[in-house]
Amino acid sequence: MIIDGCNRLHKTQCNRLREQFAQRKDVIIERQEQVTDAVIDAMSRGENSRLFAIMSAFVRHMHEFAREVRLTEREWELGVEFLNRIGKATHDAHNEGVLFSDAIGFSTLLCLLNNGNSGATETAAALLGPFWRMNSPLTENGASIVRSATPGPDLFARCRVVDPRGIALASVEVDVWQASPVGLYENQDANQCNMNLRGKFMTDGEGYFVFRSVVPGPYPVPVDGPVGDLLRAQNRHPFRPAHIHFLAFKSGFKTLVTQVFVDSSPHLESDVVFGVTRALLGSYKPGEGKPPADAVEGQWFTFEYTFVMEPGEAELPKPPIE
Ligand code: BEZ
Ligand code: FE
Repeated sequence: MIIDGCNRLHKTQCNRLREQFAQRKDVIIERQEQVTDAVIDAMSRGENSRLFAIMSAFVRHMHEFAREVRLTEREWELGVEFLNRIGKATHDAHNEGVLFSDAIGFSTLLCLLNNGNSGATETAAALLGPFWRMNSPLTENGASIVRSATPGPDLFARCRVVDPRGIALASVEVDVWQASPVGLYENQDANQCNMNLRGKFMTDGEGYFVFRSVVPGPYPVPVDGPVGDLLRAQNRHPFRPAHIHFLAFKSGFKTLVTQVFVDSSPHLESDVVFGVTRALLGSYKPGEGKPPADAVEGQWFTFEYTFVMEPGEAELPKPPIE
């Protein structure tokens, strides 16, 4: 693990703590109360102050957690086995570690802490989830991301990207990915072609990107691994409400990772990964009159949403799957 730097707020604080610990003498442990300081002391000798800040807080909280619940040795064994199973269940096409972080609300907490003026205001950001793939096909504004037969109601999306003052942002690269109406991503479904319901768009001069798709369905997160066992043990359902994912990238702006929910979907109040925030309830409306394209059968829907990008660093997350 390489963690560089220490944020300014904590730098003086964690350096002071490190110095305090560095002045301590090594001791032979006599009581459980001494273990925590002994560990933090041993970790205080490295050069990396941010690593020290993170690991010392982690150790303090872990030790306190064991004291609070009076963790038994058998329970510790089960916990370690659970972590090992997370590792074994992870491969190029599935990331059980991300799923665990999502299912305990940690990904959403982190997202809200790091966006919207560091958690002070509402944000359009949301967790990435395990299904973003890099290199989705560059798609012309207005074109369809339905690349193989995908039965379900047609959807016509008209979205816009602006800065915090409401000024249109042109040439933003926007990745779009979603599950099918039956609730499966293309990489989970032999009936969909590679990159079905995925596309990369460029916003036009007025900040718009427009595409055709199908209305996504709600779906269960994968439950054949240790996270599934945890959900069953807690009597939790595994469903996510229907949504479309977006990742907006432009130099000079913080990369916006988000998802917008179908406002009539089941499970909005009980998303298994706690991803639904009020700002992310989209307006998916039944279409009226003549559909805006050919070959539309039955009820069709429109979707409009304006994404606000905050100034910051344009960094891409690490894709959870290949
Ligand atoms: C998703 O929205 O793709 C997702 C998010 C968290 C866990 C599983 C799936
Ligand atoms: Fe999703």
